[in-house]
Amino acid sequence: MELIQELEKIYQQAFTSIPKAQTENELDNLKNAFIGKKSSLSNITKKLGSLNVEEKKLVGQKVNEISRSIEELVYTTREKLQNAEIEQQISTEIFDILRPLPSKRRGTLHPITRIQMEVEDIFVSMGFQVMDGPEIETDYNNFQALNFSDDHPARDMQDTFYTDDGNLLRTHTSAIQVRALKVLTPPFKIIAPGRVFRYEEVDASHENTFNQVEGMVVGQDISIAHLIYTMEELLNQIFGKKMTVRLRPGYFPFVEPGFELDFQCLVCGGKGCSVCKHSGWVELLPCGLIHPNVLKFSGLDPSVWTGFAFGLGLDRLVMMRYGINDIRYFNSSNLRFLNQFQG
Ligand code: DAH
Repeated sequence: MELIQELEKIYQQAFTSIPKAQTENELDNLKNAFIGKKSSLSNITKKLGSLNVEEKKLVGQKVNEISRSIEELVYTTREKLQNAEIEQQISTEIFDILRPLPSKRRGTLHPITRIQMEVEDIFVSMGFQVMDGPEIETDYNNFQALNFSDDHPARDMQDTFYTDDGNLLRTHTSAIQVRALKVLTPPFKIIAPGRVFRYEEVDASHENTFNQVEGMVVGQDISIAHLIYTMEELLNQIFGKKMTVRLRPGYFPFVEPGFELDFQCLVCGGKGCSVCKHSGWVELLPCGLIHPNVLKFSGLDPSVWTGFAFGLGLDRLVMMRYGINDIRYFNSSNLRFLNQFQG
């Protein structure tokens, strides 16, 4: 029958042209051309009405068969096209796990970490080594070996968090001085950054958790001149200009003499303003020459070995450099604060 032959022809044409489609768009067009509303197949369906019952059944069945197999062919061809597209993407796109995330989602270094790294670089360039110590310390390292006797009034100066087993959260990084004396052979120069803890009432200028950098130099004939030079050099580099410092007497049981080191106010150049409380000087760090008892405790002969030490408060340094007026921002995890330190 003529219609059956026509159907066979459509079927063959469909099976040669459909698998050659290059895009899904092309495939859709072919599908419409063969089995869509205005396709050659639907033209044949329209002619069914003029056939007798037998022919109608025969041709109708054939139309359904062909339509179903073309449908399947379109489906498998579409799958092939889609897979090929994915393959193509995989082979041409490079997924670089080291590529930085878009800036909006990128984390930043905490300003304290940033300054700590700078301070470390400055001291390393002067031949210091960087040491570390635990945040939970023994009473011996934190107090006793630093010349705080059991009933020493200086112990009242620090309100301390004690652990149940008789240890404590270190109240200062000076405990690392004791560790350095134990493991290093003089002469040596160390700095030791770290978090310290005090049982403090928290306000704009007091925190219970803050950051220090301890410094210790042990050698022969070490004098206050070495201490002043080293501190000036640190400040010159941190603030990017020539800084002037002065020493005032200060008391700490592990140094003798002990000092408070101030630098000339950057805002008024020493004339006096609200930043320096009209004194012309800003208090920066306590320091001094190592007390002979501290050296003796560690088995060093104070008539041979001398040295200086200092305790730099990192939080205050960051506050001064960036004009931050509340220490509580540092541990607040406030992204509006932290995101200002990009780059
Ligand atoms: N550890 C002292 C404190 O936290 C600071 C200090 C004073 C450190 C004098 C020193 C120093 O190394 O020599 O209050």
